[in-house]
Amino acid sequence: MQGSSASSLSAQQLFLLSIILSLLKFGFTQDGFCSAPSSIIKPESNSQPLYWKVTNPTLSPSHLQDLPGFTRSVYKRDHALITPESHVFSPLPDWTNTLGAYLISPAAGAHFVMYLAKMQENSRSRLPPRDVERFIFVVQGTVTLTNVSGVSHKLIVDSYAYLPSNLEHSVKCDASATLVVFERRHAYLENYIPDQIVSSTDKQPVLETPGEVFELRKLLPASMPFDFNIHIMDFQPGEFLNVKEVHYNQHGLLLLEGQGIYRLGDSWYPVQGGDAIWMAPFVPQWYGALGKTRTRYLLYKDVNRNPL
Ligand SMILES: *[C@@H]1O[C@H](CO)[C@@H](O)[C@H](O)[C@H]1NC(C)=O
Repeated sequence: MQGSSASSLSAQQLFLLSIILSLLKFGFTQDGFCSAPSSIIKPESNSQPLYWKVTNPTLSPSHLQDLPGFTRSVYKRDHALITPESHVFSPLPDWTNTLGAYLISPAAGAHFVMYLAKMQENSRSRLPPRDVERFIFVVQGTVTLTNVSGVSHKLIVDSYAYLPSNLEHSVKCDASATLVVFERRHAYLENYIPDQIVSSTDKQPVLETPGEVFELRKLLPASMPFDFNIHIMDFQPGEFLNVKEVHYNQHGLLLLEGQGIYRLGDSWYPVQGGDAIWMAPFVPQWYGALGKTRTRYLLYKDVNRNPL
């Protein structure tokens, strides 16, 4: 009897075991053994506003968020990667109700500054120093630009303005807005005076890039009065720079959206929307776009002047 009860128990156990196994099997076929937790590879949602990632960045992968001292930022002699968890904001000198984070400056070896300006309620810009030209690009919110002639422009996300040196102007914001700003001492050429420019990315034509697959737009005229330009470069996932560039120009870059690998010198950096990069002259540079969405970045480049 003991024997038969023991065998009926083991039959029950077998039955239970088979249920557990089938449940497990169901679980595995749903998720697969090798699938990562869904929180790690969440595709970027398309329902977010344009360039949302710049002001709402992923500070670090979810499994590293609580690791003290962890950052992807790097600062080297000829390049820097400045990721959002390293951005330090403080009141911008002279501006009203505006916090700024200088990401690139002459202290890093650059001849320009690149900073993020977070304009709050009733905020207002001030003029750059004498002989310094300014470029502003809106990544979040709306601002109003007014110049000495009293003409105003409303600038929304993806629109921008170039303000020649010594042109009186102000940028005002009623609610909240984030700008990326570039400034440098204008390298004057006799008889070439740049005009104020106000426009938006989508109004600029896609230009030919022989030998390359990315889409290029230039936000400023390529003519001699301008000593720098701002490029908007778009890569579909899998596209990459053909030329492994080394050149005399310097760059300030803000990744507006997407993910990929940036090569700078001998280092290879995973990067994503919200990251900023400083490239000194002659640093070897290359980008490959990865992920599921387009990469778009904005790039400062000095042009049109003899390097001597
Ligand atoms: C002020 O802005 C208007 C409109 O963009 C422009 O036509 C005008 O030339 C600007 N004034 C100066 C002094 O640049």
